[in-house]
Amino acid sequence: MSTNKMCEAISLAILLLVLGSPCSASLFSWKTENKIKTAVHLSPKIEIGPGAVSNKNYYDIDFPRGHVALKGFTAEVVDEAGNSVPLHETYLHHWALIRYRQSKSKLATHASYDPHRVLHVSDSIFESGVVRNSGICQGNVLGQYYGIGSETRGTNTDIPDPFGLEIGNPEEGYEEKWMLNIHAIDTRGVEDKLGCTECRCDLYNVTVNEFGKPLPPDYIGGLNCCYHETQCRLKKGFQGPKRSLYLRYTVKWIDWDEYVVPVKIYIIDVTDTLKISDTSSITSSDHDCRVEYEVDPCNRDTKKGNDCLDVKRTSLPFPKGGYVVYGVAHQHSAGIGATLYGQDGRVICTSMAKYGTGDEAGNEAGYIVGMTTCYPKPGSVKIIDGEKVTLESNYSSSSRSHTGVMGLFYLLVAEQLPHQHYFTHSSSFFRNINNVIN
Ligand SMILES: *[C@@H]1O[C@H](CO)[C@@H](O)[C@H](O)[C@H]1NC(C)=O
Ligand SMILES: *[C@@H]1O[C@H](CO)[C@@H](O)[C@H](O)[C@H]1NC(C)=O
Repeated sequence: MSTNKMCEAISLAILLLVLGSPCSASLFSWKTENKIKTAVHLSPKIEIGPGAVSNKNYYDIDFPRGHVALKGFTAEVVDEAGNSVPLHETYLHHWALIRYRQSKSKLATHASYDPHRVLHVSDSIFESGVVRNSGICQGNVLGQYYGIGSETRGTNTDIPDPFGLEIGNPEEGYEEKWMLNIHAIDTRGVEDKLGCTECRCDLYNVTVNEFGKPLPPDYIGGLNCCYHETQCRLKKGFQGPKRSLYLRYTVKWIDWDEYVVPVKIYIIDVTDTLKISDTSSITSSDHDCRVEYEVDPCNRDTKKGNDCLDVKRTSLPFPKGGYVVYGVAHQHSAGIGATLYGQDGRVICTSMAKYGTGDEAGNEAGYIVGMTTCYPKPGSVKIIDGEKVTLESNYSSSSRSHTGVMGLFYLLVAEQLPHQHYFTHSSSFFRNINNVIN
């Protein structure tokens, strides 16, 4: 919201008469004082050799502490010298940032007598302590605060003023922490780079999932075939050194105050097949988000006039409405773009894939190096409570199938616009001013 708008809002009150100051400097100094802070951190070291996969969860990562509003989060893979690593060497399949909380008393007792047990126990504490986003998949599925993949260098995640993601206000007795899941595939020297990044089971020689359970015969690719320490097929005789890599991530935030207008995170998955038995009470467990799907090969001869376009759609009621502040899709290679439509067919947001054209990090040919984003003017794009929205995810299909692709849509929604929020949260302030006047 511009200072002018805020001025208009405030001048409705008698504040200006009381203070007798023009709507500028002193009164609004909060805007300049509450500067965006930026911190750059490295994840723990990721050791990876040609063809290998690393998919690990890193708990309690470096993160801003205290009651703050997140304003942005970006990341990229770097080597030990801090150089950006291109996607054709290390494919960043995805990273996801997950908020969780731990009871302070539990932490203390375990830590005091068995340091090993803490590691183990922390997993179950983590499971129960996930503070997921506002929806809309089942359980903790897609519950992350941020998370994208190869497009991370070229995708804007900044949250415009005066909006922010409120964090760092855990309940009494709890501590808030952050977990980073990083899934990277080293494709140096592999036989089929695209196949390795699409996690094709034959290239990984994988027939059982990471828990040893046989995969169904029709499962030809996806995350169940490229779990931690699996190995993608290398070109005959290829040898290369292991390398040490890091996810370098940049967090932006401001201190929390009443002028920050909170936004909620929603992630819609195009594979979600919601079972609605009683529309008045949709629960999280009615959703069935598979996260990944397959794009079938197209046959140019039989589909005349078809550009070999794969369009996948899902329609779901949006749980709680509000004003869209930011939107972006997540797709994999061959993705074209995705659109979220409102019930009346209006476009809520379209996000298109940007492909690289060169060799260098951030511009790798054949890879999605960015997704376009939507920043609607606050108030201009509204979703109403329970509105049925439709997500459409387009891929170009080719003579071979694409496995393990995704069609996600990430939305930040504000339930109040700045002036509404301001008046809700400043009533006590206005009362006090009134007391002074009277
Ligand atoms: C593939 O896996 C099977 C057993 O799971 C093993 O016998 C075979 O040697 C593996 N092939 C390669 C190329 O690693
Ligand atoms: C997806 O394909 C449909 C059908 O051709 C088209 O109407 C729509 O504009 C496409 N959307 C994007 C984002 O490319």
